[in-house]
Amino acid sequence: MTSKTRIPIQLQINGHLHELEVEPRVTLLDALRDHLGLTGTKKGCDQGQCGACTVHIDGQRVLACLTLAAQAEGRAITSIEGLADGDGTLHAVQAAFLEQDAFQCGYCTPGQILSAVACIREGHAGSDDEIREYMAGNLCRCGAYPHIVAAVRQAALEIASSMETAS
Ligand code: FES
Ligand code: FES
Repeated sequence: MTSKTRIPIQLQINGHLHELEVEPRVTLLDALRDHLGLTGTKKGCDQGQCGACTVHIDGQRVLACLTLAAQAEGRAITSIEGLADGDGTLHAVQAAFLEQDAFQCGYCTPGQILSAVACIREGHAGSDDEIREYMAGNLCRCGAYPHIVAAVRQAALEIASSMETAS
């Protein structure tokens, strides 16, 4: 197999199936950005150290720069573009980031938001310290951390109360 060999893969992203041909070494991050035009997922380091590339696979947060596209075949991928409802209503975490001014340049924000959704789902948003610890994999050069913690806290409370209302 030469490095130019391409393999067909199917990726299920935000509920849509995409067929593409990529070299086996292509990461999920590059598949999203360069092959599918989904540029919301960002590349801050490409080495697993910044979290800007965070997406969900089967509901778990993963670093797309350390995941081969081929490894994600047959699994449900969610990128930032798929988080809002079909009618455009923002996810509670997206709305909370806006309300709490939890971003400045916005480059780390898609990864922060997907990490935060998973952090809340994992039950790791019980206190500010816990939020800080479990969001520590997402770097923010703009120093929005206090606002990010506030946004995650607000969204966690909203999600918990909407689940109580629903049950
Ligand atoms: S681009 Fe993946 S962790 Fe930095
Ligand atoms: S908002 Fe700029 S890096 Fe986080």
